[in-house]
Amino acid sequence: MISGDGEGGSVEMETETTAAASAAVSATATAAATATATAAATTTAPDALLTVEHLSIRFGGLLAVDDLSFSALPGEITAIIGPNGAGKTTVFNCLTGFYSPDVGRLLMRHSDGAEVYLERLESDQIARRGRLARTFQNVRLFPRMTVLENLLVAQHAELMRGSLYTVGGLFSLPSYRRAQQAAVEKACRYLNLVGLLSRADEEAGALAHGAQRRLEIARALCSDPVLLCLDEPAAGLNPSESKTLRHFLRRICEEEGLAILLIEHDMGVVMGISDHIVVLDYGRKISEGTPEEVAGDPRVIAAYLGEEDADDGSTSSTAATA
Ligand SMILES: Nc1ncnc2c1ncn2[C@@H]1O[C@H](COP(=O)(O)OP(=O)(O)O)[C@@H](O)[C@H]1O
Ligand SMILES: [Mg+2]
Repeated sequence: MISGDGEGGSVEMETETTAAASAAVSATATAAATATATAAATTTAPDALLTVEHLSIRFGGLLAVDDLSFSALPGEITAIIGPNGAGKTTVFNCLTGFYSPDVGRLLMRHSDGAEVYLERLESDQIARRGRLARTFQNVRLFPRMTVLENLLVAQHAELMRGSLYTVGGLFSLPSYRRAQQAAVEKACRYLNLVGLLSRADEEAGALAHGAQRRLEIARALCSDPVLLCLDEPAAGLNPSESKTLRHFLRRICEEEGLAILLIEHDMGVVMGISDHIVVLDYGRKISEGTPEEVAGDPRVIAAYLGEEDADDGSTSSTAATA
């Protein structure tokens, strides 16, 4: 059992997954070799929605992300996993314009052929032009606003456009009234999708943790993303909530035609729903492949359990948290 104590709370890798991963070390040498070979290559696909190439960012003496390349395909769930401090959230922060990478290309290629280089945009343009939305490792809602209000605030830009950015427009313009109507309809649609429509008028802060996480996802969906970046959405969820989340994420991918980039410590979620997994350790990509390939890669086991554990089951973990 590997336990993690990330920012979002204590999380545990499910026993069944650990056992499966351990068994896979000996049983799936071929899969491991595939993952190892894949990780070594610059894995970018021509049909990718997101292409990250040679991303690096340094904080003082710390190279938090080191020459990272990977792709996320349309309609797929791509997971980024790795021990605490591996650089996962930093990748999201670079993608969403919170940090400016020192080096690297971050390309969104849309279905109409438009190419958007995220590293060249200000953060406020990334959501709109890149069509990329994120949730945070810690829940960030307006707790004293209602569930519905939280989703309307997220659509503030569209509402202001409808008002032509004038106070008069807020009171009298039909375009503002239409934008208002559309914002409420969109909010209700996503509240329905995340199972919170009946709670629209309740204070967001009064919701259970799992429901708050779903509300955050609904809020991210309100910006019409094609790539949804979720930072530890299962953190702090109980097993039943985590199972619900798994089904829900797969469903929004299929029903909304979205791709998801998923940072997650809950291996039940990661192994259960990911199409593709990228594994980071100390900022570097150490493995990449399908869940089976990655679970069978000795370097992944070593990163999570420590070198000694991977070899003979003794202690001395370098990355005790996952
Ligand atoms: N703004 C920052 N300033 C300095 N160090 C940072 C900053 N953001 C992240 N780091 C460091 O970069 C490393 C990767 O952090 P992070 O991406 O949050 O890891 P993860 O999400 O994989 O747990 C950590 O060592 C962290 O302390
Ligand atoms: Mg993180």
